[in-house]
Amino acid sequence: MIKLIKGFRDLLPGDTELWQHVEEAARKAFADFGFSEIRLPLLEKTELFARSIGADTDIVEKEMYTFEDRGGDMLTLRPEATAGVVRSYIEHGFGASDPVQKLFTIGPMFRRERPQKGRFRQFFQINAEFFGAAEPQADVLLLWMAAGFFTRLNVPDIAIHLNSLGCPECRPAYRDALLAFLAGKESDLCENCQRRYRQNPLRVLDCKAKTCRELTEGAPSITEHLCPDCKEHFSFVTRGLSGLGVDYVLNPRLVRGLDYYTRTTFEVQTASLGAQNAVAGGGRYDGLVKALGGPDTPAVGFAVGMDRLVELLKGNDYGLSRGPAVYVACLGDAAREKGFFLQAELCSAGVAAEMDYNSRSLKSLMKRADKTGARRVLILGDDELSRGVAVVRNLADKSQEELPLDGISDYFLKGSTA
Ligand code: HAM
Repeated sequence: MIKLIKGFRDLLPGDTELWQHVEEAARKAFADFGFSEIRLPLLEKTELFARSIGADTDIVEKEMYTFEDRGGDMLTLRPEATAGVVRSYIEHGFGASDPVQKLFTIGPMFRRERPQKGRFRQFFQINAEFFGAAEPQADVLLLWMAAGFFTRLNVPDIAIHLNSLGCPECRPAYRDALLAFLAGKESDLCENCQRRYRQNPLRVLDCKAKTCRELTEGAPSITEHLCPDCKEHFSFVTRGLSGLGVDYVLNPRLVRGLDYYTRTTFEVQTASLGAQNAVAGGGRYDGLVKALGGPDTPAVGFAVGMDRLVELLKGNDYGLSRGPAVYVACLGDAAREKGFFLQAELCSAGVAAEMDYNSRSLKSLMKRADKTGARRVLILGDDELSRGVAVVRNLADKSQEELPLDGISDYFLKGSTA
């Protein structure tokens, strides 16, 4: 038997209702803030990710699904959405028509990470990108939108972690200060961090290994090394969030695993998913559009990890309807034929109706009705058929009534939400 690829999942009926609910909530919340949907290919040229996420990052170095296609191009299954959105923004000349663009996209991403709870090799993101506004209001609006989205969904126990990574003006001095702090400790860092120390020392702050956390205790904080402009930007972001009543935690260790960030970075974290504690992450990336060949355009964005979000929401009662509105239970050949036409009509009239087409006892039909989660059962035997009636049983309160077959679709149509 051929099985699923490791780290990939089938999302099955029973679960997909919650996924749809999350998607609909996102579409509504993002549209309320003026975001339009963009749909992009899953495959892009490898170079796009190397140049945006950063050649030295874990994602680009170790986790991408990359292959050479038959024409000799190096292609990669997107490990994240931002790079593709930026490519599209540039390619379609958004900057020339109106640099201010608010775009969202929902879909699968691929990273060959070690699978564990909350971490998959194919996972889904809801991604929002706000182009063309350098002002901190854009950061605040985006965070406000994200917070509102999580509130609407009643996500339990989350916290927004906030940091600023400065800009190309002030970050090098901070990098030097951090390197000076780490000097002499290098050989005690974990294997990963020894590499990071040379390539991207800020990432050492993000390491989960106990020894690295201990070694970096007391490390200089980036927010104390910001240039005046970055300082003012960050100060507005914190004032803006406080003014809107959004709770946040200042976290100077939050450096993120992608290289394109400038200034504000944030993560929505939870304590409920073990090591995979980020349900969403994002920040400002003012240099990326230009670095990829577009006009100098500031931008800020975030992505929600849907797999993790859905996991957090399991058990919440959203009243998501699981079963059909009616199960058509027929006894006898003539009744079954009439019942089939009824089922077909009900479905096309917008009343979800289920029916089994083989001959069964009433007991077995009632069991089937229960199993489908139907709210009502329409019982039709040859006797009812000859009298032009059907029995409708309400499975919740066990009441039942006899109704004329003529116009019975209308009865369900009116009561289809009951
Ligand atoms: P990221 O932090 O790499 O950022 O991913 C965002 C979210 O995707 C994470 O917080 C997590 O919930 C989810 N996620 C990431 N990897 C996995 C995985 N292997 N399994 C399950 N969930 C995962 C980005 O991707 C940026 N592009 C976000 C962004 C948009 N920044 C600016 N705009």
